[in-house]
Amino acid sequence: MNINILTIFPEIFDALNFGVVSKSLDKDLLKVKTFDIRKNSINKHDQVDSKPYGGGEGMVMMAEPIISTLKEIDNKNTGKIIYLSPQGKRLNQEKVKSLSKLKNITLICGRYEGIDQRVIDEYVDEELSIGDFILSGGEYAAICIIDAISRHIPGTLGNKNSYLKDTFSNGLLKWDTYAKPEKLGSLRVPEVLLSGNHKEISKWREENSLLKTFLKRPDLFEKIKLSKKQKKLLEELASKAIL
Ligand SMILES: C[S@@+](CC[C@H](N)C(=O)[O-])C[C@H]1O[C@@H](n2cnc3c(N)ncnc32)[C@H](O)[C@@H]1O
Repeated sequence: MNINILTIFPEIFDALNFGVVSKSLDKDLLKVKTFDIRKNSINKHDQVDSKPYGGGEGMVMMAEPIISTLKEIDNKNTGKIIYLSPQGKRLNQEKVKSLSKLKNITLICGRYEGIDQRVIDEYVDEELSIGDFILSGGEYAAICIIDAISRHIPGTLGNKNSYLKDTFSNGLLKWDTYAKPEKLGSLRVPEVLLSGNHKEISKWREENSLLKTFLKRPDLFEKIKLSKKQKKLLEELASKAIL
């Protein structure tokens, strides 16, 4: 997969050289190319922003440097053009999965008060938000998206099935996980996880996952269809949890 990024801070993307994403980059499963919008500034002061028409606070990124930067990308590699914006559709795991199937995408990172609306109207295919809060730049949102996408690219994760068991992949939160040691002061790992009984372990994990979702994110149940068995189990667990 090929990801093009338009930014005035290409160095921020050095953060991708760590962990899972770096493996994806090293294996050439993912290619990330930054395009510096400032190199296409319209004057010798390297300016890429101007005051908003109509007055008001802050500065707005001008259209021309962004459009010229978009034109630097080889047409056949541009793919879907996405503007990272708090006004966009909220990103979720389903969206990440569908993005991971694309061959090319181009991410535009805004700064200041955002970008000239005409770029959005004429060039952007989709606006995506990483949540209902305001970042100072789209770069951080782009990094989140790239990291999340990389987990879905076959060959990136050591265990190819591990992303299938992540929280949200089946609509629920993942079960509680424990690492060594077995005893941490008075705190113990649940006995069943030490039993070696795989049937019992899966049962415990399914119950734990349902209960956690019920307690922490009941809203997730509105988006999935539980099996009869899961519904029954949830009713039992919920009645115990409430008592
Ligand atoms: C300070 S924000 C501009 C916010 C804009 N003034 C508004 O109220 O909608 C600067 C840039 O950060 C990025 N950004 C901010 N919050 C974001 C979010 N929740 N998701 C994705 N990108 C975001 C966008 O690229 C945006 O152009």
